[in-house]
Amino acid sequence: KARPRVLSGIQPTSGSFHLGNYLGAVRQWVELQETTDAFYMVVDLHAITVAQDPAALRENTRVSAAQILGAGLDPERCTLFVQSHVPEHAQLAWVMNCLTGFGEASRMTQFKDKTARHGNEAATVGLFTYPVLMVADVLLYQADEVPVGEDQRQHLELTRDLAERFNTRYAPTFTVPKPHIPKATAKIMDLQDPTAKMSKSAATTKGLISLLDEPKLSAKKFKSAVTDTDTVVTYDEEKKPGVANLLRIHSALSGQSVEQLVAHFEGKMYGALKTELAELFTDWVTPFQQRTRTFLDDPAELDRVLAVGAEKAREIAGATLETVYDRIGL
Ligand code: ADP
Ligand code: NA
Repeated sequence: KARPRVLSGIQPTSGSFHLGNYLGAVRQWVELQETTDAFYMVVDLHAITVAQDPAALRENTRVSAAQILGAGLDPERCTLFVQSHVPEHAQLAWVMNCLTGFGEASRMTQFKDKTARHGNEAATVGLFTYPVLMVADVLLYQADEVPVGEDQRQHLELTRDLAERFNTRYAPTFTVPKPHIPKATAKIMDLQDPTAKMSKSAATTKGLISLLDEPKLSAKKFKSAVTDTDTVVTYDEEKKPGVANLLRIHSALSGQSVEQLVAHFEGKMYGALKTELAELFTDWVTPFQQRTRTFLDDPAELDRVLAVGAEKAREIAGATLETVYDRIGL
C-alpha cells in the first residue's frame, strides 16, 4: 500500500449537514482524498439503531451522499459508498460480536450516555452493539488510520483490541488501526449557546447552521449570534466563547489565522465580524448547494456513483471476510 488507507463514515440522520459536520468532518475527508487511499461511507446501518422512518432514511442517505460530493469529494480519487450496499459490514459485525465480551461492550460510555438520555426501554440491542459494527466497518478495509473525534476514541480502542484479539487467537488477519488526529479540528459551537457544540440534536435550530437552508436564513443567524457585552474583537474561549466561535468559523472558511482576523477587526465592532462572516458563508455555501443539487437532480448519476463505490468497497471487504470465515472455520 503506497498511501495509508483511511476509513470514515457519517450518519444520514438529518438530511442536511450542519456547519459543524462540514468543518469538523467532511472538509477533512476532502483533504484526505489527496494524500491517502480513502474510503468514505454513509452509515445507514448505524442510523437504524434508533427509530427511523423508511422514506426519510432513504432520502437522507441520498441527500448525505450528494452533500459529500457537493463539498468536493471526488469519487475518482476515493471510494464513496453506502454502508448497507456492502453486506460484509453486517457479516463481519456478527463475527466481532462473538469476540466481544458483554462487560467490555457494557463499558462503552456513548451507549451509557444515550440510554441515560432516552431511557433503557427505548434502547435496542442494535444500539448496544453499535460500537462493534464500527469495529467491523474499520477492520473490513484494513484501514491504517481512522479520523476520530474525542467522542469516538473509545470505539477506536475497542477496534484495536478486537483486531489484536482476532490476530492472536487465529492468525494475523487485520491491520490494527491508529487514530488520525487532524491538524486543527474546528469545534463549532451553537450560535445561540456558544458553550454547547453545534448539533442537530439541539433543542432549537436558532443557533444551528444547516447547509441546505436558504443562505439568507443562515446569514440572519450569523448576524444574530450571541456574543457578550464587551465590544472588542479578541480571541478568548473562556470569557468570550461566542466571539471565539465566530472567529474560528471565519478562520476555517477564509483561511486566515485567528491572529490575522483579530488584527483585521481592530477598532471594529462585533457587527462587522458578523456581517463579514455571513458574506463569507454565503459565498461558500451557494456553490456547495449548486453542486449538491446537481446530484439530487440526477438520481441516475448519483446511483451510478454509489454503485461504483460499493463495487470498489466490496472487492476489499469481500476478500477480508473470506479470510476471516476461513480462519474461524466457517
Ligand atoms: P451531531 O453532533 O449533530 O449529532 P454527528 O454526531 O452526526 O453530529 O457528527 C458527524 C460528524 O461531524 C462527526 O465526525 C463529528 O465529530 C462532526 N461534528 C458534529 N458536530 C460538530 C461540531 N459542532 N463541531 C465540529 N465537528 C462536529
Ligand atoms: Na452526535
